[in-house]
Amino acid sequence: MDRQINSVEMEQRKGRRLVLFPLPLQGHINPMFDLANILHSRGFSITIIHTTFNSPNPSNYPHFTFRIISEDLPENNRCTKDLIVFVSMLNAICGSPFRDCLADLLSDTSEEPIACLISYAILYFTQDVANELKVPRMVLRTGAASSFCVFSSFPLLREKGYLPIQDSQLEEPIVDLPPLRVKDLPVIHTNDPEDLYNVVVGMVEQSKASNGMIWNTFEELEWTSLATLHQKLGVPLFPIGPFHKCFAVTSSTTSSSLLTHDQSCISWLDKQDPKSVIYVSFGSLASISETQFLEIAWGLANSNQPFLWVVRPGLVHGSNWVEPLPNGFLETLGGKGHIVKWAPQQQVLAHPSLGAFWTHNGWNSTLESICEGVPMVCMPCFTDQKVNARYVSEVWGIGLQLEKGLERGEIQRTIKRLMVDKDGENIRERMLNLKEKSNLCLSESGSSKQALDSLVHHILSLESLTFRTH
Ligand code: UDX
Repeated sequence: MDRQINSVEMEQRKGRRLVLFPLPLQGHINPMFDLANILHSRGFSITIIHTTFNSPNPSNYPHFTFRIISEDLPENNRCTKDLIVFVSMLNAICGSPFRDCLADLLSDTSEEPIACLISYAILYFTQDVANELKVPRMVLRTGAASSFCVFSSFPLLREKGYLPIQDSQLEEPIVDLPPLRVKDLPVIHTNDPEDLYNVVVGMVEQSKASNGMIWNTFEELEWTSLATLHQKLGVPLFPIGPFHKCFAVTSSTTSSSLLTHDQSCISWLDKQDPKSVIYVSFGSLASISETQFLEIAWGLANSNQPFLWVVRPGLVHGSNWVEPLPNGFLETLGGKGHIVKWAPQQQVLAHPSLGAFWTHNGWNSTLESICEGVPMVCMPCFTDQKVNARYVSEVWGIGLQLEKGLERGEIQRTIKRLMVDKDGENIRERMLNLKEKSNLCLSESGSSKQALDSLVHHILSLESLTFRTH
């Protein structure tokens, strides 16, 4: 990202601090730290407020300051087994420690004045705190605009009987939200669907009450959804992504990664033919059954394409790692398969030997794939992943969704169709066109670069509002 700004603006911004508060999960920590780096490069000082759960390593970010809040989560909610319970709990118990921490920062005259709080959308309790302390609050949405459109339609979807989802309706199209079907709605299994509804409505309503939203997306990719949200939410929107491309990947590790990247996969990729490898990863939270794990293993083996597979410890229910694989599974494939616990994903996707990405369609993975022009096999598991997968396969036409469940024959056919067959040529071509657009939007006259300039001006205008009300 070009860092040129005029010197008067830079002077104005010097001595202004932004306070960022991420949701403590990998897929949200990464984009929040990317955003922090982007805004730091534009002259702002950065303070990160974080929870004790999944706390970042401050020594990776000597240019930021860190404040910890003790959120005191009950032990059984620390695991993210029920994400909705986890998120509801954070919203319920973080208010007071977060308020104290922010009040302390505001009263600290040894630090620069705070221009604005930027908190993750789903931590919606922060809007009340910001109101109370009279600090402008902006919202970071780490997911796509398209899935947020669906979240913002939850009241309508409930009124029309689509929510809570009934199994008998799964294939029905949702006329108000084409091309989504009931089964593409961004839900997740939780003990009480009412809790999910409340979390989503809380997130949307408190985003509307904010001073604006920052998006890890770009105008050319999601202009229809962004236009709809502009009307619906009534707050300024700043699509300044893809965040991770604003800085060159210079090191082999992403310092916001909670797990260690296994670099062995890069030397393995170096030995493969160009565009021959399928990379398989289902992100940081999804899990699968042992039966599904074995279908994936055989589907990959039978596809005859070399594969790099991230099997995160805990991915397979009831197993520590890859124990369910038959003895000697990888050896019989003669080097065609490589399994790691956690990969340097952005480096992997940028590798010339990559031909396809079998993904759960978390938004970071989806965007990272688009930026490298790697077509996708889509296997969404929950929430926004389902909407992302539908957009990848039906709106942008840059991937194929596994529609018939996890069965080895279907897996083998889908991989071949995407990577080898004539049939997949259009998909591969569209993917390359989109990659081009994702590069252009960050150029000097590109849409994301311009949105970032507007964001910086917006933050400064918020600051003057705050000072007037004080
Ligand atoms: C979660 C939700 O599942 C997803 O729906 C939401 O959009 C974001 O938060 P997660 O499951 O972690 O995300 O997936 P994703 O959004 O794709 O983020 C994973 C991140 O971890 C990516 O930035 C990816 O580069 C990184 N990663 C993943 C690695 O560095 N190594 C790996 O082996 C796998």
